[in-house]
Amino acid sequence: MRSVIDILDLSVEELEGLIQTSLDIIQRPAEYSELCRGKKLATLFFEPSTRTRMSFEAAMYELGGNVISMSSAASSSAAKGESVADTARVVSCYADIIAIRHPKEGAALVASENATVPVINAGDGGHCHPTQTLADLLTIYREKGSFEDLTVGLCGDLKFGRTVHSLINALSRYSGVKFVLISPEELKVPSYVKRDVLKQKGIPYVQTTSLEDAIPELDILYMTRVQRERFFNEEDYLRLKDSYILTPDKLRGAKEDMSILHPLPRVNEISVAIDKDPRACYFKQVLNGKYMRMALMRLLLKEAGTL
Ligand code: NCD
Repeated sequence: MRSVIDILDLSVEELEGLIQTSLDIIQRPAEYSELCRGKKLATLFFEPSTRTRMSFEAAMYELGGNVISMSSAASSSAAKGESVADTARVVSCYADIIAIRHPKEGAALVASENATVPVINAGDGGHCHPTQTLADLLTIYREKGSFEDLTVGLCGDLKFGRTVHSLINALSRYSGVKFVLISPEELKVPSYVKRDVLKQKGIPYVQTTSLEDAIPELDILYMTRVQRERFFNEEDYLRLKDSYILTPDKLRGAKEDMSILHPLPRVNEISVAIDKDPRACYFKQVLNGKYMRMALMRLLLKEAGTL
């Protein structure tokens, strides 16, 4: 059974296909509105979420299907001690496809090994978040027209930010991509990402603590929230939470066509004064996420023989 746990579970050709499907959905939504009639998505969210859960649900409704969901981990049998493996097996009896978010790295993989329907990882701890990357990729594609020769600045919590890890993996497959990794010392990109992706593929990257110094050369600036829930102590979080705040002042040195992305939710990382700037793409990114989730569910349900 084909699941998507990591962004690398999708080939570059499949990503291109998902982008083209999303663009077609945007052009001709009526063509897709009955596609999943009678099908059900189960959303299993063991961690807070607004966008990811609601966009999966909206995506399934816009494909003509239905949604069943756990209202929270606390109200499900997880609170009684049920394992992710058993929950996945059980929910496979009710749904045609599952989207799962869990605080533990690897939980989505365990779910996929035990489910009998496709499983989509909607975020596993500080590890990865492939469908956010799909939203990011469609946004970059619509803004820039290609993924090649981009200088991409990733700023904020690069250690715990799962969206960052998945985006690095995805963009490392295109030629001419360079990364500028902007973070406090304590929140640098994990060494396994540097070793297994950046160094292994010979991708140029620099690490810096200064957003101001980095900004002039960037084509994309990807801001992130400091991931409070993954910190071991509150003091460290309080010390680091406002390390980077993007203000109109800081944008002065940036390229005219630099795109500003953020997976959201934002806390303080981007001043609301930036929202009116034509370079701000983070609300477009939210909408793009819904289209890409529609395209992904269509692909997986087709491969499973359900459609
Ligand atoms: C992100 C996540 O959950 O990792 N949010 C999202 O899905 N859009 C980023 C975050 O929570 O900071």
